This record gives sequence, C-alpha cells and structure tokens, in this order.
Amino acid sequence: MMQTLTTISISLNGKIVAIQSDPRTRLSHVLREEFHLTGTKVGCDAGDCGACTVLLDGKPVCSCLTAVGQLPDAEVTTIEGLVEASQTFDRLQKSFLQHGAAQCGICTPGMLVTATALLEEKPAPSETEVMDALGGVLCRCTGYRKIIQAVAAANQSESAAAPADTASPVGQRIVRLDGWRKVLGRDIYGADEWPADSLALRVIRSPYPHAEFSFGDLENFAHENPGIHAIFTARDVPGRNCYGVHPHFADQPVFAERETRFLGEAVAAIAGETSAIAGIDPASFPIEWKELPALITPAEASASGAPLLHASRPQNILVRGRVVHGDVERALRDSAIVVEAEYETGFVEHAYIEPEAGFARRVGDRIEIQCCTQSPYMSRKDIAGILGISEESVRIIPTAVGGGFGSKLDLSTQPFLAVAAWHLRKPVRLVYSRPESIRCTTKRHASKIRCRAGASADGKLLAMDLDGEFNTGAYASWGPTVAARVPIHGSGPYDVPHYRALTRAIHTNLVPAGAFRGFGVPQGTIAQEQLYDTLAEKLGIDKLEFRVRNALDETSPTVTGQVIGPGVGIRACFEALRDHWNSVRLETAAFNSGNRTLRRGVGVAGMWYGCGNTSLANPSTMRIGLQRNGRIAIHMGAVDIGQGSFTVVTQICAEALGVPVDRFDLLPADTDISPDCGKTSASRQTFVSGNAAFLAGKQLREKIDALGSSPDLQALPLDERGYVVSAEATYDPPTKPLDANGQGIPYAEYGFGAHLAEIEVDLELGTLKVLRLTAAHDVGRAINPTLIEGQIEGGVAQGLGMALMEEFIPGKGENLHDYLIPTIGDMPQVESILIESPSPIGPFGAKGIGEQALIPAAPAILNALYDAAGIRIRKLPATPDKIRAAIRAKASAAQGNSHD
Ligand code: FES
Ligand code: FES
Repeated sequence: MMQTLTTISISLNGKIVAIQSDPRTRLSHVLREEFHLTGTKVGCDAGDCGACTVLLDGKPVCSCLTAVGQLPDAEVTTIEGLVEASQTFDRLQKSFLQHGAAQCGICTPGMLVTATALLEEKPAPSETEVMDALGGVLCRCTGYRKIIQAVAAANQSESAAAPADTASPVGQRIVRLDGWRKVLGRDIYGADEWPADSLALRVIRSPYPHAEFSFGDLENFAHENPGIHAIFTARDVPGRNCYGVHPHFADQPVFAERETRFLGEAVAAIAGETSAIAGIDPASFPIEWKELPALITPAEASASGAPLLHASRPQNILVRGRVVHGDVERALRDSAIVVEAEYETGFVEHAYIEPEAGFARRVGDRIEIQCCTQSPYMSRKDIAGILGISEESVRIIPTAVGGGFGSKLDLSTQPFLAVAAWHLRKPVRLVYSRPESIRCTTKRHASKIRCRAGASADGKLLAMDLDGEFNTGAYASWGPTVAARVPIHGSGPYDVPHYRALTRAIHTNLVPAGAFRGFGVPQGTIAQEQLYDTLAEKLGIDKLEFRVRNALDETSPTVTGQVIGPGVGIRACFEALRDHWNSVRLETAAFNSGNRTLRRGVGVAGMWYGCGNTSLANPSTMRIGLQRNGRIAIHMGAVDIGQGSFTVVTQICAEALGVPVDRFDLLPADTDISPDCGKTSASRQTFVSGNAAFLAGKQLREKIDALGSSPDLQALPLDERGYVVSAEATYDPPTKPLDANGQGIPYAEYGFGAHLAEIEVDLELGTLKVLRLTAAHDVGRAINPTLIEGQIEGGVAQGLGMALMEEFIPGKGENLHDYLIPTIGDMPQVESILIESPSPIGPFGAKGIGEQALIPAAPAILNALYDAAGIRIRKLPATPDKIRAAIRAKASAAQGNSHD
C-alpha cells in the first residue's frame, strides 16, 4: 500500500509538535516509536484492552484506534504529560501505590489516565462511577478491587500503607519497591526499549494445524523486497534446533523442518528495516504448504493406529502421572455412598496485557537478550544450546513483565532474536502482535477428568479414584509437570485413605499447553470439589461441615504418604468461613423464597498446593552486600512478574538483617550480575528465594557486627564481590523423590485455602453474577498483607474467568474481544481472610500464595450455581447459553417426571 506522508501539528503534553506520517498511522505507534513516550502501552492494537489510553482534548481515548490524521490542532496528553502537570494525577498515583493497585503495572498507565479524566470531572466518584469509567481498561493481575479503592480514595488523605523506614518490616503493608516506576509509566517492558539501529523481525508461521512445507526461492524474495537483510530457517540455527523447559523432554524446534505440528508454528523469520518488514505481505512469502490430517482431541490422538507426533512417544502420550495409596476398589465397595462424574475444561489463554517482546544483540562472541521472561536462567541454558555456545556466553536481561502467569516461563521471541542477531551482528527487535501472542504461546491444558468418590454414612471420606486426560498440544512444554502435579493434589486437602489418580498428557496438533497458575491443579480441583459437594449432599451433611470433618491435619498422611506436620491450616480456613456460611445461607434462602426468576446460591471449595518444584531440586541463591555509602545492595535474581517478590523478599532480608527496606538498593535480575534464584513459578519465590534472603540477611548481620560499632566504611577494603562485606546464601527445599506409586515427599511446604462464593442466576437468561467472594488463605505468615490480598483478588478474577467465560479455541478468537476475560464490571466484592499457620521451614513461617489464590474460586462458584439452580455444567466455561440450556433441560425433565 502506498504511503502518503503528511505533516500534522498537535499539542503533545503541552508542547506543539509536528508529526510527519501517513495520516492513517495509529497515534499509539507515533507516540511510542517516534516520540519514545512508552508510558502509553499497547496490548492489542484493536481497542480492546485500554492500555493505550491517552487524553484527547481532555477525554480518554484508545490511541491505537486514533489515526494521526484525525488530530490536527488536537491536544494529546499521555501519562508522561500528566506526571508533570496534573495534581489529580499526582494524588491518584500515590493512592495506587498505597492501595497496591499496580501489580505488573502494564495496565496502570491506561488506568491512571482514564481515572484522571474521571476525577477531574467528579472528584468524589461512587464505586459504580469508578467501575463505569474504567470499564474499557483491562487488568489481568489485580482483580480490579484495589484499583477501584485507589481511585475512590484518591482525593482523601488517609494512607493504607506502612512507611518503608519501619524497623521491623515483616508483616507490614509496605508499598511495593518497584511501584513508583509503574505509576509514572517508566517501567521498561519488553517492547519499551530497543537500540536505535535495531532491525525488525517478522516470523512466518504455519497456517494449518498439521502440514508439510517446502520453501521457494528465498534469496529472490529477499532481493525483490528492498530493506530485507536476511531470512532465517532451520538450517540457520547454529546449535541445536530444539529446546524445552524439561531437558529430558525437549522437543520444540526454533523453526520447523519440513513439517509443522500446530497452527502458528514458526518456519522462518525475516529480518530487515522496520518499514520494510511492516510492509511485507506474508502471503507473498515463497513457501508451498500441503495440509495434512490433524489430530485435535486426545481421544483421536491416542487411538490405536493414530499417527505419532513424536516417534518416541507411543499413542502420542507425552507422559503419565500416578499416585496410588491403599486399596481404592475395596474402599469404594465398602462406602455407604459412592458418587461419580466427569468434568471437562477447555484451553485457557493467559491474556496478560503485555504481548511477548524483546531485542537481542551480539557483543563479540556473546549474545545479549533483553526481554520479558519469568525464567532468565532456564532461558539462558536453552539459548546457549540453540546457538551452540556456552551458557556464560549468553546474557538474559529481563525487563519488567506485563503479566506472565506461567506462559513467560517458556521461550517465545528469544530464539528468533538470538539466531537473527547472532548472524547479522546487529541488534534485532521483535514484538508479538496480540493475535500472534494468542495463537502461538502456551495455554492452560484442556482437561477431561473422570472421578469417583466414596464415604461412610457418618461422612468420612474413604476413597477417591481419579482419571485425568490432558490435551498437551504439539510439544512438551510443562506437560510433564501438569501430569505429575494433578495426581498429587487430586484428593484435595483432605484425608483420603484410599486413593488412585492416573493422568496422561497427550499430544495433539494444537498449540502447546504449558504452565498456567496452578499447573493443572485448578482443573483437578474443579472436578474434585464439585464431586465432594455431591457426596456431602447425598450424605445429607452440611457441605462446609463435610469438608471440615475430612480436612488434613498435622498428623494425617497425604495421598503420597507424607505427614506434613505443623502448619496445616486448611481446617482453620474452613472454620474462618463458617459464620458467614451459616448466615449467608439463611439470607439466600429468604431471597429465593420471594423470587421466581432470580435465584441466589452459595458454594464453598477448598484447596492445597505444594510450593516449589515437584520432588526436584529448585534452589535459589541470594547475594547481598554492604556498600561504602552504608546502603545494602540486594541482587534479586527472582523476577517480579507483578506478584511483588521484589518487595516481599527484600522485607524478609531486611528483617533478618535488622535494617529497614528503604536502606536497600535493588539490583534486578540479570544473568550476568545476579545469582540464580530459579524461575518465578509454582508459588516458590516467597518460600524459596525468601529463605535464601533470610539466610543471607543473617550472615551479613554477623559480618557487619564483626566490623564493630563505628567503622569508617570509606576506608575499608572491598571484598571479591565489590562490597565492604557481603553474603550469599542458597536455599533448596527438602523434598524426596516419589516411588512408582507416587509415594514420597513431593513438596516441603504447602499453602491452603477455601473460598465461599455467593452468586445470583437469572433462570430465564442464564446469566450468572458473582455477588461476593470470601477467601480464607493460610499464608503461614503474611509478609505483606496488601500484596497477598492483591494475589487473592487477582486469583479470584482468573478463577471467575475460568468458571464462567474463558475458553481458547485454536484458530478462533485470537484477540481480546472474542476471547473474553473478566472486566471491572464482572468483579464481585472480595473479602480476604489471612490465616497464619506458620510453616516450620518458611521464612518467618511464610508460604506461597500465587497459585493458591486462583484454585478454589471456580469450584466455589460452580458449587454456588448448583445451590442456586440445581444444575452442574460439566464442560466449562459455564456461559449463559449453557446455563440456560441446563436449566431448561432440568425443568423439562421435572415436567416429564410429573407426567409419568
Ligand atoms: S492497545 Fe489500544 S486498546 Fe489495546
Ligand atoms: S496490573 Fe493490571 S494487567 Fe498487570
């Protein structure tokens, strides 16, 4: 398409500027790429996420939907302009910090800009007015509650936060240490920084779930398209054209060779000048495709005679999981009541607001990649293998991460960037589009779980039998972890003496399924907690009481034979809900007696989750040092993906060392300067890196004390790490391998929780509104209650989405208007109750909360739906059409019965 350049004059942040551009160019593009105003974020380029919101003549608009040709003489204000000029904004950003309203922070500029416009018009808005105003800005982390509170309280003076100079920081609501950068729009995410001479990359991908291909004349294509510098394919991978998070299962090529196994799989990458790359029509790329039959469901893929995606994996089974304890068949025969059901969940998209992005450059014989990632050290290892160089020759510099939730544990842009920059010896940049991010990156596993459970007449759980089938897509990713975790957790946090759980992760020609907050445990818990609800009902026992009676305690063995010992807080979580459970059920019954169309319901569900890797070493190493200026440097290799680990781990270290957190200088993760803290996943950073920080803090305290009371720091020599004194400590949780029946000690520490959901269903429309969710979580010790509440509220939002609206169908809905995630209007009131049953081995007793917060939300909502309408939706999500159909089916069955 021919471009016509026009000069357009606008007022940008109070200054008149001239934009020379095609009038159709997006304002967001001009702001970021030409004016480097990267506080304006781009999450979708389609008007769906609101991350790009700016003020146009004082009104919030999506800058991605605003063409610069619409702007002559307009006044555009970005977050950078508000930082300098708006008192309202100033109060708002402080309120965001105090309330913990920014987690990953990628949505924060859009939220702040929109809220500034609201407060300029309405200084004291109601909660409904805040929700209406922010309805167009998506947040995937916070669950919106703290954002609503922050906006509503912005013009009030009270502070919800504790000062950072507090002498004893553990347990304090200290503002997150990386918060200022986020509320100023200055945090650097994957797409926000690039060397001026960067080339751009475009990845060519398979249009079919399964296909063979052959390239045409690539050289000629490069010649015919001025500005193209090189085209890379599998033959250009200098080392191993294969990577994967589990080395033993590594199977994913950087570029496919002759055959692609899922829609969106990469076959080539074109590098060139940014404008040339933007102008390429992928349909003109010289490649011939031959579509092949595709295996879409696990049933097809594991059927006898089905072709194999990977020759070494019979029946397309990637891996099996197994935990067997006692004699399940005998116990089921002996049970007074046995219930049985099957539950299905679809693929779920992570839908972080930041698509994957980064740049790479070759520095001599080393490669440096700056990108958004949850796992810098794992990425370093794989990139070294791909380039055929040593790990020390690879430097990964993580940017701020605009949401990860598991998917940014896997490589995405990095292999393409590495190969291109290695050959070209020039910096190369790649930013995924929203459709590319959704189409090609990992998903939560789709699942089919069949289970049976039996209990005695007095309500003692006797047996559970679970069979789980997980669609793991074309490559291994985290499939082995999901297959291993689900059987361990499939009993729920209950004493189940006879147990059998068998799982399989099965390859299909679909996008790889990987890690997503909970590693399969949310899918298992949706089945198990609904089944136990049915069991309690058949037994005629109160559903909360049934759970309390069967809850694990300090002496009962888990289904892997582990006696956890002190710190099992599940019963306390249920008990914390009991009063509310009793009163709200009475209120619900009263409401329902006066309503024919609207029905309310109450549901409860419990959870447990092992913190850290399953029976595998997952050490974290923390280094700290006293600087000559008297401040403490902390090398934070633990990537903060929004959950607050920078702050929590520093609080732990500060308490152990005996100094306030405002005396710390944070050196963020960088594989060249920080020791390995492992990946940010599996709710391990507070527990594992927190323990390493605790040990380092104690060590440094001893060394400082040994210096005496008043040394001249300027005069002291520096140690080998460049500090006056320094300490480095490693912590690795004590676990034991599981035997062939899955018996052993898979985790050193567990988090526990229970949610109580109150919902309202419209029986005619099938719509379901979650009114309120009360979440009790045993966190061992609440290191920073504000950050924990943020995790809980965000987990509730993702659980609600999983229960009611989210399903990724490969090939469809690769955007944020077809793939729906909860908006601010979908969120209920959330009350968090923090239970502190200290872990004997957690830092100050603390346990993880990241995954835990999501797991019980969906089953609690689904149990509430049953309570309200007497229906179970066995294939999630429970969308209004399914709810309405189930209500009608139930009504006609009842009518049929009455005619019998
Ligand atoms: S980037 Fe503009 S609305 Fe998402
Ligand atoms: S804090 Fe809103 S998307 Fe992460």
